[in-house]
Amino acid sequence: MDRTDTKKTEQCIRLTRLPCLQPQPRPRWQGPLASLLIGLCLSAAQVIAGPPADAAEDYESVIVLTPNIDNGRRVYLVCAVCHGPEGWGTPDGTYPQIAGQLREVIIKQLEDIRAGNRDNPLMYPFALTRILGGPQNLADVAAYVETLPMTPHNGLGPGVDLELGERLYADNCADCHGERGEGNPGKRIPALAGQHFIYLVRQFEAIRNGRRKNANSEMVKQIAGFNQGEEMAVLDYVSRLRPPPEKMAAEGWLNPDFPNFVREPLGVPPLPPAPPVPPPTPGPIP
Ligand code: HEC
Ligand code: HEC
Repeated sequence: MDRTDTKKTEQCIRLTRLPCLQPQPRPRWQGPLASLLIGLCLSAAQVIAGPPADAAEDYESVIVLTPNIDNGRRVYLVCAVCHGPEGWGTPDGTYPQIAGQLREVIIKQLEDIRAGNRDNPLMYPFALTRILGGPQNLADVAAYVETLPMTPHNGLGPGVDLELGERLYADNCADCHGERGEGNPGKRIPALAGQHFIYLVRQFEAIRNGRRKNANSEMVKQIAGFNQGEEMAVLDYVSRLRPPPEKMAAEGWLNPDFPNFVREPLGVPPLPPAPPVPPPTPGPIP
């Protein structure tokens, strides 16, 4: 994690400890930020008030639940701080696009992150039961994220060896990830189409060198012999696979569920101003 990441985690953690969750008078914020922050507070209060920590649910108990999309939207407010209100992440791959991912995959990944199977110190605290909530919240947020339309402008590779990439993909990946990178819900195989190139590279390497501890051992075998040129070529090709048109957002789409979200370059809303300092009480007149 570089310094920006560390700073961002601190900011995110501070956001979940906003003053409205503390036993002290609520500061009088002004301007459009106030409604966002109060919304965030209410939502955080709601998820924090959920079931107690350490209820390690397994995938099977989550996938059978009927998702409530409205609640998923409320839970998603916390995720939006990093993944963005649209769920598109960042084209530089720091944050993955999660919009449109298969709900089965989202649930598995959230549980893996929660269980420490993925090297993701930035998101880890937000995946804990205390913040994210129990099985129903997991099912709800995953279903909500799956409904979000995907960015038409994901980060692409350099485009130098796409023919090799296409061949490698057909021979080594398509059986599992699908002809068009659409994934496989029953087997919890991620959709890859539309994902940011640099994120694909980071995950491919994490799977290859075992840093993703609960990854697919068949895939690990399949990619063991890839050299760096082949890896780049295949992932470049993957970054250019287009999701089906019905999963794509229209040009310029912004998520109407979060009209007051403050879009900063880093995706982090500014912190609330410090409460005003009370005027000094005059001392006794000598
Ligand atoms: C503090 C920032 C942060 C917050 C808040 C956050 N995430 Fe993440 N998330 C990340 C980062 C960074 C990654 C990629 C980690 C890596 O490189 O392995 C990630 C990865 C993921 C993945 C795996 C994607 C994939 O295909 O590999 C899913 C799913 C996900 N997040 C969902 C969520 C949901 C749902 C929430 C809200 C409950 C959430 N995230 C909140 C930073 C965050
Ligand atoms: C035997 C089936 C299988 C094969 C073959 C396979 N994969 Fe995978 N792949 C998976 C599964 C399952 C996962 C999810 C692992 C997990 O749950 O952590 C995955 C995850 C990934 C991810 C991470 C995606 C994300 O959103 O986190 C990338 C990138 C990836 N595969 C690329 C490839 C490429 C490129 C090939 C071909 C060179 C390939 N895979 C071959 C099954 C496979």
